[in-house]
Amino acid sequence: EKGGYDYFMLKEIAEQPRAVADTLLGRIDANGRLTLDEIRLSDDELREIDKIIIVACGTAYHAGLVAKYAIEHWTRIPCEVELASEFRYRDPILDRDTLVIAISQSGETMDTLMAVRHAREQRSRVLAICNVNGSTIPRESDAVLYTHAGPEVGVAATKTFLTQLVACYLVGLYLAQVRGTMFGDEIRAIIAQLADMPDKVEKVLDTIEPVRELARSLADAKAVLFLGRHVGYPVALEGALKLKELAYMHAEAFAAGELKHGPIALIEQDLPVVVVVPPRRGRSVLHDKILSNIQEIRARGAKTIVITEEGDETVAPYADTLIYVPAAPTLLQPLVATVPLQVFACELALARGHDVDRPRNLAKSVTVE
Ligand code: BG6
Repeated sequence: EKGGYDYFMLKEIAEQPRAVADTLLGRIDANGRLTLDEIRLSDDELREIDKIIIVACGTAYHAGLVAKYAIEHWTRIPCEVELASEFRYRDPILDRDTLVIAISQSGETMDTLMAVRHAREQRSRVLAICNVNGSTIPRESDAVLYTHAGPEVGVAATKTFLTQLVACYLVGLYLAQVRGTMFGDEIRAIIAQLADMPDKVEKVLDTIEPVRELARSLADAKAVLFLGRHVGYPVALEGALKLKELAYMHAEAFAAGELKHGPIALIEQDLPVVVVVPPRRGRSVLHDKILSNIQEIRARGAKTIVITEEGDETVAPYADTLIYVPAAPTLLQPLVATVPLQVFACELALARGHDVDRPRNLAKSVTVE
Protein backbone atom coordinates (compact mmCIF):
# COMPACT_ATOMS: atom_id res chain seq x y z
CA GLU A 1 0.00 0.00 0.00
CA LYS A 2 3.04 2.26 0.35
CA GLY A 3 3.59 1.66 -3.35
CA GLY A 4 7.24 0.69 -2.97
CA TYR A 5 8.11 3.58 -0.65
CA ASP A 6 9.35 3.09 2.90
CA TYR A 7 6.94 5.69 4.25
CA PHE A 8 3.53 6.99 3.25
CA MET A 9 4.93 10.48 3.44
CA LEU A 10 7.46 9.76 0.70
CA LYS A 11 4.71 8.28 -1.44
CA GLU A 12 2.43 11.25 -0.81
CA ILE A 13 5.16 13.75 -1.69
CA ALA A 14 5.71 11.85 -4.95
CA GLU A 15 1.97 11.89 -5.69
CA GLN A 16 1.80 15.68 -5.70
CA PRO A 17 1.86 16.24 -9.47
CA ARG A 18 -1.14 13.95 -9.84
CA ALA A 19 -2.92 15.44 -6.81
CA VAL A 20 -2.58 18.95 -8.27
CA ALA A 21 -3.76 17.78 -11.70
CA ASP A 22 -6.74 15.93 -10.22
CA THR A 23 -7.82 18.99 -8.25
CA LEU A 24 -7.93 20.99 -11.50
CA LEU A 25 -9.65 18.21 -13.43
CA GLY A 26 -13.23 18.83 -14.54
CA ARG A 27 -13.19 22.41 -13.28
CA ILE A 28 -12.05 24.08 -16.49
CA ASP A 29 -14.26 23.94 -19.58
CA ALA A 30 -13.20 23.69 -23.22
CA ASN A 31 -13.06 27.50 -23.44
CA GLY A 32 -10.69 27.80 -20.51
CA ARG A 33 -13.42 29.12 -18.21
CA LEU A 34 -13.92 27.86 -14.69
CA THR A 35 -16.99 25.76 -13.95
CA LEU A 36 -17.45 25.53 -10.21
CA ASP A 37 -21.24 25.06 -10.05
CA GLU A 38 -20.49 22.32 -7.53
CA ILE A 39 -19.88 24.91 -4.81
CA ARG A 40 -23.64 25.64 -4.72
CA LEU A 41 -23.39 29.39 -4.21
CA SER A 42 -25.29 31.35 -6.83
CA ASP A 43 -23.60 34.07 -8.86
CA ASP A 44 -25.83 36.58 -7.06
CA GLU A 45 -24.65 35.35 -3.69
CA LEU A 46 -21.02 35.53 -4.84
CA ARG A 47 -21.55 39.10 -6.03
CA GLU A 48 -22.92 40.17 -2.65
CA ILE A 49 -19.83 39.15 -0.71
CA ASP A 50 -17.96 42.15 0.68
CA LYS A 51 -15.48 40.40 2.96
CA ILE A 52 -13.78 37.03 3.16
CA ILE A 53 -12.42 35.40 6.30
CA ILE A 54 -10.39 32.21 5.96
CA VAL A 55 -10.24 29.96 9.02
CA ALA A 56 -7.99 26.92 9.34
CA CYS A 57 -5.33 25.21 11.48
CA GLY A 58 -1.78 24.04 10.90
CA THR A 59 -0.82 23.45 7.31
CA ALA A 60 -4.29 24.43 6.09
CA TYR A 61 -3.78 27.82 7.75
CA HIS A 62 -0.63 28.31 5.68
CA ALA A 63 -2.65 27.56 2.53
CA GLY A 64 -5.07 30.26 3.72
CA LEU A 65 -2.24 32.78 4.09
CA VAL A 66 -1.23 32.20 0.46
CA ALA A 67 -4.89 32.44 -0.58
CA LYS A 68 -5.22 35.91 0.92
CA TYR A 69 -2.60 37.32 -1.45
CA ALA A 70 -4.22 35.73 -4.48
CA ILE A 71 -7.85 36.43 -3.59
CA GLU A 72 -7.31 40.09 -2.72
CA HIS A 73 -5.19 40.66 -5.81
CA TRP A 74 -7.66 39.04 -8.17
CA THR A 75 -10.98 40.04 -6.63
CA ARG A 76 -10.26 43.20 -4.60
CA ILE A 77 -12.42 41.70 -1.81
CA PRO A 78 -10.81 42.28 1.61
CA CYS A 79 -9.65 38.90 2.92
CA GLU A 80 -8.46 38.02 6.42
CA VAL A 81 -6.92 34.76 7.53
CA GLU A 82 -7.31 33.54 11.06
CA LEU A 83 -6.31 30.53 13.10
CA ALA A 84 -9.59 28.70 13.64
CA SER A 85 -8.85 28.27 17.34
CA GLU A 86 -8.75 32.05 17.83
CA PHE A 87 -11.65 33.00 15.59
CA ARG A 88 -14.80 32.79 17.66
CA TYR A 89 -13.20 33.99 20.86
CA ARG A 90 -12.48 37.46 19.54
CA ASP A 91 -16.06 38.28 18.57
CA PRO A 92 -15.34 38.63 14.83
CA ILE A 93 -17.46 40.97 12.71
CA LEU A 94 -19.63 38.75 10.53
CA ASP A 95 -22.81 39.16 8.55
CA ARG A 96 -24.63 37.71 5.53
CA ASP A 97 -22.21 39.31 3.11
CA THR A 98 -19.16 37.75 4.73
CA LEU A 99 -17.86 34.61 3.08
CA VAL A 100 -16.05 32.38 5.55
CA ILE A 101 -13.77 29.84 3.90
CA ALA A 102 -12.90 26.91 6.15
CA ILE A 103 -9.90 24.91 4.94
CA SER A 104 -9.49 21.45 6.44
CA GLN A 105 -7.97 18.32 4.98
CA SER A 106 -9.87 15.96 7.28
CA GLY A 107 -13.04 17.99 7.62
CA GLU A 108 -13.07 16.92 11.28
CA THR A 109 -10.77 19.40 13.05
CA MET A 110 -12.77 20.62 16.03
CA ASP A 111 -11.26 24.11 16.12
CA THR A 112 -12.23 24.65 12.49
CA LEU A 113 -15.67 23.10 12.95
CA MET A 114 -16.42 25.41 15.88
CA ALA A 115 -15.37 28.39 13.76
CA VAL A 116 -17.75 27.22 11.01
CA ARG A 117 -20.62 26.87 13.48
CA HIS A 118 -19.94 30.32 14.89
CA ALA A 119 -19.90 31.89 11.41
CA ARG A 120 -23.19 30.23 10.48
CA GLU A 121 -24.82 31.37 13.72
CA GLN A 122 -23.94 34.90 12.62
CA ARG A 123 -25.61 34.18 9.24
CA SER A 124 -22.37 34.25 7.23
CA ARG A 125 -22.03 31.94 4.27
CA VAL A 126 -19.46 29.21 4.74
CA LEU A 127 -17.48 27.52 1.97
CA ALA A 128 -15.46 24.47 3.01
CA ILE A 129 -12.29 23.40 1.20
CA CYS A 130 -11.89 19.82 2.20
CA ASN A 131 -10.24 16.54 1.17
CA VAL A 132 -12.51 13.96 2.83
CA ASN A 133 -15.86 13.48 1.17
CA GLY A 134 -18.89 13.80 3.41
CA SER A 135 -16.88 14.76 6.50
CA THR A 136 -18.38 17.00 9.18
CA ILE A 137 -17.13 20.44 8.09
CA PRO A 138 -18.49 20.21 4.52
CA ARG A 139 -21.75 18.77 5.86
CA GLU A 140 -22.19 21.75 8.14
CA SER A 141 -21.14 24.33 5.52
CA ASP A 142 -23.25 26.06 2.86
CA ALA A 143 -20.91 25.02 0.10
CA VAL A 144 -17.90 22.83 -0.49
CA LEU A 145 -15.02 22.57 -2.93
CA TYR A 146 -13.24 19.25 -2.55
CA THR A 147 -9.52 18.83 -3.04
CA HIS A 148 -8.74 15.64 -4.94
CA ALA A 149 -5.51 14.63 -3.24
CA GLY A 150 -6.74 11.14 -2.40
CA PRO A 151 -6.28 9.69 1.10
CA GLU A 152 -3.34 11.14 3.03
CA VAL A 153 -1.94 8.77 5.66
CA GLY A 154 1.22 10.57 6.78
CA VAL A 155 0.37 12.76 9.77
CA ALA A 156 2.24 15.74 8.33
CA ALA A 157 0.27 17.20 5.44
CA THR A 158 2.02 17.32 2.06
CA LYS A 159 -0.07 16.64 -1.03
CA THR A 160 -3.16 18.03 0.64
CA PHE A 161 -1.37 21.35 1.13
CA LEU A 162 -0.66 21.69 -2.58
CA THR A 163 -4.25 20.80 -3.44
CA GLN A 164 -5.56 23.30 -0.89
CA LEU A 165 -3.53 25.95 -2.66
CA VAL A 166 -5.06 24.91 -5.99
CA ALA A 167 -8.58 25.01 -4.54
CA CYS A 168 -7.94 28.50 -3.14
CA TYR A 169 -6.65 29.72 -6.51
CA LEU A 170 -9.77 28.29 -8.16
CA VAL A 171 -12.05 30.06 -5.69
CA GLY A 172 -10.21 33.35 -6.21
CA LEU A 173 -10.33 33.12 -9.99
CA TYR A 174 -13.96 32.00 -9.94
CA LEU A 175 -14.92 35.01 -7.82
CA ALA A 176 -13.02 37.24 -10.27
CA GLN A 177 -14.85 35.61 -13.19
CA VAL A 178 -18.30 35.99 -11.62
CA ARG A 179 -17.71 39.52 -10.35
CA GLY A 180 -15.87 40.70 -13.45
CA THR A 181 -12.85 42.03 -11.56
CA MET A 182 -10.49 40.63 -14.21
CA PHE A 183 -10.63 40.30 -17.97
CA GLY A 184 -11.55 36.85 -19.26
CA ASP A 185 -8.22 36.61 -21.08
CA GLU A 186 -6.31 37.37 -17.92
CA ILE A 187 -8.17 34.65 -16.03
CA ARG A 188 -7.63 32.18 -18.86
CA ALA A 189 -3.91 32.94 -18.86
CA ILE A 190 -3.63 32.17 -15.15
CA ILE A 191 -5.67 29.00 -15.57
CA ALA A 192 -3.27 27.92 -18.30
CA GLN A 193 -0.35 28.60 -15.95
CA LEU A 194 -2.08 26.57 -13.25
CA ALA A 195 -2.50 23.73 -15.71
CA ASP A 196 1.30 23.75 -16.21
CA MET A 197 1.98 23.34 -12.50
CA PRO A 198 1.77 19.52 -12.27
CA ASP A 199 4.69 19.22 -14.72
CA LYS A 200 6.66 21.81 -12.78
CA VAL A 201 6.08 19.99 -9.50
CA GLU A 202 7.23 16.81 -11.24
CA LYS A 203 10.37 18.59 -12.33
CA VAL A 204 11.11 19.65 -8.74
CA LEU A 205 10.81 16.01 -7.68
CA ASP A 206 13.03 14.84 -10.53
CA THR A 207 15.86 17.10 -9.37
CA ILE A 208 15.41 16.71 -5.61
CA GLU A 209 18.48 14.59 -4.74
CA PRO A 210 20.73 17.52 -3.70
CA VAL A 211 18.04 18.58 -1.19
CA ARG A 212 18.21 15.12 0.39
CA GLU A 213 21.99 15.32 0.65
CA LEU A 214 21.75 18.76 2.19
CA ALA A 215 19.21 17.54 4.77
CA ARG A 216 21.42 14.63 5.76
CA SER A 217 24.39 16.96 6.18
CA LEU A 218 22.35 19.07 8.65
CA ALA A 219 21.12 16.22 10.83
CA ASP A 220 22.97 17.61 13.84
CA ALA A 221 21.89 21.22 13.45
CA LYS A 222 20.31 22.74 16.56
CA ALA A 223 17.87 24.99 14.73
CA VAL A 224 16.89 26.13 11.25
CA LEU A 225 15.40 29.47 10.29
CA PHE A 226 13.21 30.13 7.25
CA LEU A 227 12.71 33.46 5.51
CA GLY A 228 10.30 34.50 2.81
CA ARG A 229 8.13 37.38 1.81
CA HIS A 230 4.85 37.88 -0.02
CA VAL A 231 3.54 34.33 -0.70
CA GLY A 232 7.02 33.03 0.10
CA TYR A 233 6.38 33.89 3.74
CA PRO A 234 3.65 31.25 4.23
CA VAL A 235 5.92 28.84 2.33
CA ALA A 236 8.63 29.57 4.92
CA LEU A 237 6.11 29.02 7.73
CA GLU A 238 5.15 25.67 6.21
CA GLY A 239 8.82 24.66 5.85
CA ALA A 240 9.40 25.44 9.55
CA LEU A 241 6.25 23.58 10.60
CA LYS A 242 7.30 20.45 8.68
CA LEU A 243 10.68 20.50 10.40
CA LYS A 244 9.12 20.85 13.86
CA GLU A 245 6.57 18.12 13.22
CA LEU A 246 8.94 15.56 11.71
CA ALA A 247 12.47 16.30 12.93
CA TYR A 248 11.48 17.77 16.35
CA MET A 249 13.86 20.61 15.67
CA HIS A 250 13.55 24.20 16.61
CA ALA A 251 12.50 25.88 13.41
CA GLU A 252 11.10 29.34 12.93
CA ALA A 253 9.96 31.34 9.96
CA PHE A 254 10.06 35.09 9.53
CA ALA A 255 8.86 37.54 6.94
CA ALA A 256 12.20 38.63 5.53
CA GLY A 257 11.38 42.33 5.92
CA GLU A 258 10.91 41.77 9.63
CA LEU A 259 14.41 40.36 10.07
CA LYS A 260 15.92 43.73 10.92
CA HIS A 261 13.27 44.34 13.58
CA GLY A 262 14.50 41.57 15.83
CA PRO A 263 15.18 38.09 14.45
CA ILE A 264 18.52 39.10 12.94
CA ALA A 265 19.86 38.88 16.51
CA LEU A 266 19.48 35.10 16.19
CA ILE A 267 21.91 34.81 13.30
CA GLU A 268 25.19 33.22 14.31
CA GLN A 269 28.01 31.26 12.74
CA ASP A 270 26.82 28.23 10.74
CA LEU A 271 23.11 28.64 11.52
CA PRO A 272 21.24 27.18 8.53
CA VAL A 273 18.80 29.71 7.08
CA VAL A 274 16.50 28.74 4.25
CA VAL A 275 15.41 31.67 2.08
CA VAL A 276 12.54 31.54 -0.42
CA VAL A 277 13.25 34.08 -3.16
CA PRO A 278 10.33 35.61 -5.11
CA PRO A 279 10.54 35.56 -8.92
CA ARG A 280 12.34 38.49 -10.50
CA ARG A 281 9.57 39.25 -12.99
CA GLY A 282 6.59 41.06 -11.52
CA ARG A 283 7.81 41.68 -8.02
CA SER A 284 11.41 42.59 -8.72
CA VAL A 285 11.52 45.02 -5.79
CA LEU A 286 10.89 42.16 -3.39
CA HIS A 287 13.46 40.05 -5.19
CA ASP A 288 16.10 42.72 -4.67
CA LYS A 289 15.18 43.30 -1.06
CA ILE A 290 15.46 39.64 -0.21
CA LEU A 291 18.80 39.55 -1.97
CA SER A 292 20.07 42.15 0.53
CA ASN A 293 18.64 40.05 3.38
CA ILE A 294 20.63 37.08 2.15
CA GLN A 295 23.80 39.18 2.04
CA GLU A 296 23.12 40.50 5.56
CA ILE A 297 22.69 37.10 7.15
CA ARG A 298 25.60 35.63 5.27
CA ALA A 299 27.86 38.42 6.48
CA ARG A 300 26.90 37.29 10.00
CA GLY A 301 27.94 33.72 9.33
CA ALA A 302 24.64 32.04 8.41
CA LYS A 303 24.71 29.03 6.13
CA THR A 304 22.38 30.24 3.38
CA ILE A 305 20.13 27.76 1.62
CA VAL A 306 18.41 29.62 -1.17
CA ILE A 307 15.36 28.51 -3.13
CA THR A 308 14.92 30.50 -6.30
CA GLU A 309 13.61 30.10 -9.83
CA GLU A 310 15.64 28.57 -12.62
CA GLY A 311 17.66 31.13 -14.48
CA ASP A 312 18.03 33.46 -11.49
CA GLU A 313 21.82 33.81 -11.28
CA THR A 314 21.75 36.89 -9.07
CA VAL A 315 21.60 34.97 -5.80
CA ALA A 316 24.34 32.46 -6.60
CA PRO A 317 27.21 34.46 -5.06
CA TYR A 318 25.44 34.57 -1.67
CA ALA A 319 24.09 31.04 -1.51
CA ASP A 320 25.95 28.24 0.24
CA THR A 321 23.37 25.91 -1.28
CA LEU A 322 21.23 26.88 -4.23
CA ILE A 323 17.99 25.06 -4.96
CA TYR A 324 16.38 25.87 -8.28
CA VAL A 325 12.66 25.40 -8.90
CA PRO A 326 10.92 25.92 -12.26
CA ALA A 327 9.83 29.50 -12.96
CA ALA A 328 6.20 30.23 -12.09
CA PRO A 329 4.14 33.38 -11.62
CA THR A 330 4.69 34.84 -8.14
CA LEU A 331 1.27 33.88 -6.78
CA LEU A 332 1.66 30.28 -7.96
CA GLN A 333 5.26 29.86 -6.81
CA PRO A 334 4.27 28.19 -3.51
CA LEU A 335 3.23 25.10 -5.51
CA VAL A 336 6.85 24.52 -6.50
CA ALA A 337 8.74 26.25 -3.67
CA THR A 338 7.12 24.19 -0.90
CA VAL A 339 8.16 20.81 -2.29
CA PRO A 340 11.91 21.06 -1.51
CA LEU A 341 11.00 22.10 2.05
CA GLN A 342 8.82 19.01 2.52
CA VAL A 343 11.61 16.76 1.26
CA PHE A 344 14.16 18.62 3.38
CA ALA A 345 12.16 18.08 6.59
CA CYS A 346 11.35 14.48 5.76
CA GLU A 347 14.94 13.52 4.96
CA LEU A 348 16.33 15.35 7.97
CA ALA A 349 13.85 13.54 10.22
CA LEU A 350 14.83 10.19 8.71
CA ALA A 351 18.50 11.02 9.21
CA ARG A 352 17.71 11.63 12.88
CA GLY A 353 16.00 8.26 13.07
CA HIS A 354 12.35 9.33 13.31
CA ASP A 355 9.21 7.71 11.92
CA VAL A 356 7.97 10.39 9.53
CA ASP A 357 4.52 8.84 9.19
CA ARG A 358 3.80 8.92 12.91
CA PRO A 359 5.54 11.87 14.55
CA ARG A 360 5.41 11.91 18.34
CA ASN A 361 2.56 13.76 20.10
CA LEU A 362 0.67 14.50 16.88
CA ALA A 363 -2.59 13.20 15.42
CA LYS A 364 -3.71 13.36 11.82
CA SER A 365 -6.89 15.07 12.83
CA VAL A 366 -7.52 16.70 16.17
CA THR A 367 -11.15 16.33 17.19
CA VAL A 368 -10.92 18.17 20.48
CA GLU A 369 -10.81 21.92 20.96
C1 BG6 B 1 -3.08 18.98 12.79
C2 BG6 B 1 -2.38 18.03 11.86
O1 BG6 B 1 -3.30 18.55 14.06
O2 BG6 B 1 -4.25 19.44 12.13
C3 BG6 B 1 -1.82 18.95 10.78
O3 BG6 B 1 -1.33 17.32 12.53
C4 BG6 B 1 -2.98 19.63 10.07
O4 BG6 B 1 -1.04 18.23 9.85
C5 BG6 B 1 -3.93 20.32 11.07
O5 BG6 B 1 -2.49 20.59 9.18
C6 BG6 B 1 -5.24 20.72 10.41
O6 BG6 B 1 -5.91 19.55 9.96
P1 BG6 B 1 -7.08 19.61 8.91
O7 BG6 B 1 -7.54 18.20 8.75
O8 BG6 B 1 -8.15 20.49 9.50
O9 BG6 B 1 -6.53 20.19 7.66
